Amino acid sequence: QKPKLWISRALFPEWIDPVREWADVDAAAEERAYSPEELKRKLAGVDAAMVGLSDRIGADEVAGNTRLKVIANLGVGYNNLDIPALTAAGIVASNTPEVLNESVADYAWALMLAAARRVAESDRFVRRGGWKGSAFTAWLGPDVHGKTLGILGMGRIGRAIARRAAGFSMNVVYHNRSRLKPELEQEVAARYVDKQELMRASDFLILIVPLTPESHHAIGGAELALMKPEAILVNVARGGIVDELALVEALHAKRLAGAALDVFEGEPKVRDELLAFDNVVLSPHIASASAETRRAMALLAIENVKAVLGLGEHAGHPPTALNPEALGHRRAD
Ligand code: GLV
Ligand code: GLV
Repeated sequence: QKPKLWISRALFPEWIDPVREWADVDAAAEERAYSPEELKRKLAGVDAAMVGLSDRIGADEVAGNTRLKVIANLGVGYNNLDIPALTAAGIVASNTPEVLNESVADYAWALMLAAARRVAESDRFVRRGGWKGSAFTAWLGPDVHGKTLGILGMGRIGRAIARRAAGFSMNVVYHNRSRLKPELEQEVAARYVDKQELMRASDFLILIVPLTPESHHAIGGAELALMKPEAILVNVARGGIVDELALVEALHAKRLAGAALDVFEGEPKVRDELLAFDNVVLSPHIASASAETRRAMALLAIENVKAVLGLGEHAGHPPTALNPEALGHRRAD
């Protein structure tokens, strides 16, 4: 009898087919949202699950579940999972760190450049037939090169973002809960500043911190008020890091030159007010969505599942478990 694996997101068959050799796979055929009751029911009938960032799983979703051993999150951020609750239930959770660092950093730069040089806005202009002749003084945006790049969150992704700044001759400042070790600071050529100074100094501010109760609305009205009116805010972290209403207000009042957002407080819903701004670039939470990286993330999630189930080369040692201590108090079943 093979262990049962439920995969909540629609993945490519070629990623999943090899898994069928060691697991009985129930894979979603299309993208959809699950109610808490559906999640609970799905999780009750399997030994393992691979879930996405929109699947919120806590104590209620695993209450009374004595079968489930592992939940592999298809993402590095795991604010959708209640880790203490899963640990208490003896369920190992894993995420997908490292494999996406460079792709997310690429995308943060894509958004920053797009917002500065008005790529999405000018694309809309050309498509609607607006281009009648070239005005020398139209479409001017700020230069990116030579400016000050601020980074909130100097984890592995933040450092990958910072490294790219050298090619643009940018001055990099950052703020993080803890300051980097001197050798790492030197490697990424970034200067540590307090949060207020980060707000004041940045021409471009990229957010890449995990969403926690402490980082919720880390960028609100008070922080936005410190920013330069020429500054552009880029969020590739989580929607909840930014107080969106405060951002809308700052944009309306032209206290901020623009924003580029890959994540939203109520995603997949995007506030109508944000849709109305031409100087805001919007994308559907795709910073890690390169072909190579999404595949690597899926394979890493599969490797964690396999390891927790005691199979494969990492048997008993899930490579990126968030609560490996849960392996210890496996419930009798
Ligand atoms: C994407 O947002 C992730 O956390 O992987
Ligand atoms: C994770 O979120 C990181 O920045 O390393």
